[in-house]
Order: sequence, then C-alpha cells, then structure tokens
Amino acid sequence: MRSLKRWLAIAALGLGLTSLAQGSGKLEIFSWWAGDEGPALQALIDLYKKRYPGVEVINATVTGGSGVNARAVLKTRMLGGDPPDSFQVHAGQELIGTWVVADRMEDLSSLFRQEGWTTKFPKGLLDLLSYKGGIWSVPVNIHRSNVMWYNPAKLKEWGVTPPKTWAEFLATCQTLKGKGLEAPLALGENWTQQHLWESVALGILGADDWARLWRGQLKFNDPKMLNVWNTFGKVLDCANKDAAGLSWQQAIDRVIEGTSAFNIMGDWAAGYMTTTKKLEPGTGFGWAPSPGTSGVFMMLSDSFGLPKGVKNRTNVINWLKLLGSKEGQDTFNPLKGSIAARTDSDPSKYSTYSQAAMKDWKSNKIVGSLVHGAVAPESFMSQFGTVIEIYLNGKNAQAAANAAQAIATQVGIGR
Ligand code: GAL
Repeated sequence: MRSLKRWLAIAALGLGLTSLAQGSGKLEIFSWWAGDEGPALQALIDLYKKRYPGVEVINATVTGGSGVNARAVLKTRMLGGDPPDSFQVHAGQELIGTWVVADRMEDLSSLFRQEGWTTKFPKGLLDLLSYKGGIWSVPVNIHRSNVMWYNPAKLKEWGVTPPKTWAEFLATCQTLKGKGLEAPLALGENWTQQHLWESVALGILGADDWARLWRGQLKFNDPKMLNVWNTFGKVLDCANKDAAGLSWQQAIDRVIEGTSAFNIMGDWAAGYMTTTKKLEPGTGFGWAPSPGTSGVFMMLSDSFGLPKGVKNRTNVINWLKLLGSKEGQDTFNPLKGSIAARTDSDPSKYSTYSQAAMKDWKSNKIVGSLVHGAVAPESFMSQFGTVIEIYLNGKNAQAAANAAQAIATQVGIGR
C-alpha cells in the first residue's frame, strides 16, 4: 500500500513536471504581420507550439503595413489596462519613448544575461534597446530600409540600369517616360511615401548629416533639408497617381508585373517576393541600395517585449527565449526577408539577397530608420505623415521643412 502511494506520488510529480515543461494556459502575440506578412511569424509560432503543446497561442494581428493601425489599437489596450502578453514593436525610440518611459514594460536585462544575449547581439543594437540601465525588448531581426527593387528582365528590355544617385534616378525616369512608361516609380499609401522620403533624405544628406538631424545638430529647416524636399518632389513626379490607395505589396506587384520599373521599400519586400511570390533573388527580382546610399545601411529591428501585469508571464518568457535563440531567428528570418539580429546565425539558411544584406550589415555605415522607429520619438514619427500631407498639398518645400522643425521642437529632438 505504502509503495503504491509512493508510486502514485511520483507519477503525479512526473505529470506535474511534464505539464510545467510544456506550459499551459494562453499566449497572446500581438503584431501587424497579417496575411502576406504572416508566414515567418507562423513558422515561429509552430516552433513554439512544438515546444509547448499545452499552450494555446492567440495570433492577434492588426492589418496595416509598418504598424500604422496596430500601434493605435495597442495604445488603447495599454492605456485601458488590457496589454497583450507580448507585442511587436520597433527597437529604439518607438518603445523607449512610449511604454518604457510610462513604466509599463518589464526590464529584460536579467533574461538577456541568463540567455547569454549580451554577447550574442551587436553592441549598437543592445544600445538601441537600452534605457536607464534596462533592456526593454528582444530583437528578432534586422531589416534594411534603403533598398531599391526592380525586375532585371524588364530593365534590360528598357535598356536602363539601376540608378546610383537621385540625379541619375530622375534622368532614368525621363528615359523611361520617353519609352511610354507612365509611372517609372511604384508608390503606395502615406507611410510608404514617408519610407521613400527617408531614402531620399539619406541619399541627399549622407549618413553623417542624417545622424546629426536626430541629435538636433542639423535643423529640419536647414537649406540642406529644402534640397531634400525639392528632390523628393521631383521623385514623386515619377510615381503613379493612385499611390494613396495601394499597399506596399501592391506597389511591389507593379514592379514584378513590369508596369513600373522601381520601388523603394524595406527588405520585407524580399520576403514577400521569395516566400509569397516564389521569385528567385537575382533573376525574379533585383535590388540595389536606394540612390545615393551605397555603403550605408539604414536599419530597423522588430522586437517583442513584456508588458507589466500580463496574464501569462511564463509563456511570454518562453516566447522571448525562442525569439532570441539561434533556432528561432534562423526559422523566422529566411522567410521574412530580414537577417538575424544575432551574430552567430547560419547564412546557408538564407537567400542570396539576405546573404548580401548580411555582408553590408557588417561592412556598411549603420544609421537608423525614422519611419520604423529607430531614431525618432514616436511623437515625431506619428506626426510626420502630416508633414508629408502638407508637402503633397502645395509642393512647398519651405512649408514642409518648417512643419517638420516645429514638430521636432515640440517633441524635443536633440534636447
Ligand atoms: C515594418 C516592420 C517590418 C514589416 C513592415 C511592413 O515596420 O518592421 O517587419 O512588417 O513594417 O509592414
């Protein structure tokens, strides 16, 4: 009898330990990776489910490229005391300037130490994630913002090569218009116009002035910025007139189909073209640094954090551990078009596009993206769409420059 009891006790303990190892309860992951943007996240969730079959994963997505809609929903939930267990957010000011300063996030620095991540991620990235002695989210990738995409067969047919400066771009645009191409540049909705703007600005200013802008050392109404706006205006003249109604994928589709020659977009476009469209990098699509930015890598990083007071904390910790692991990163990124944030990832798992990006990431000058949360506070970023609208309304460079400077002063850039 006693041994039966002991056996039962041991069995119960065993069961308990198994269910502990496999987890239980739920895990809600909040992101804007819906539809075409979903496969990489789904692969990561599948891996999580394999490790923790007892956990019910809720994949909560809000459609809308670059998080335009997701951020608004997140705000309501965070302010309403109903945080998702873990949410996608860009490394840098987008998280630090909002939910970290509001004391709504857990400091993850002990997790970083425990997992050995303080030596596995590049120092610059760790700096971006850090604030007041804490590390506030786990990076899953590095994306590049300043990429120009094209269809090699089409360029050959039209007899043009990828332009290396914005002046060359404008000349190529005229050549293509002369050949009957109405919109040499494919462009999408407002945030993709901001995305184009940051590539134009980087190409005109160069890496050093771009960085000075965010330190408050170059004013947004400096004559150099007027040059940026005027160039941007000319570049817009090369674009389709129905931009406002197109998603970033629809803009890329026009390049694939050959109704436009170029699109400036982050390298999630490589993920879309390889994973969804099944195109071969190099033949199905081509790429180059956006004009004037050769040798410069404008980076951004998607990351996930742990809000204070979530319902399923242990499940989130396990999620974050997976995100930061070599296996997690090398599962997610080859599908996403990004490269691993970790320095020890396995290049053989990646496309030739990503292998080229890995090389550039190691050898280029690194700067941060405005539109994707790295360099500017969210308060600036969320108002920059209005500056673009002001410019589009009157094509007045001075008015746009003044508006940008007013916002910069308001939110304290460089203060
Ligand atoms: C970026 C994000 C990428 C991709 C893109 C388009 O902001 O970092 O991972 O999702 O938006 O939605």
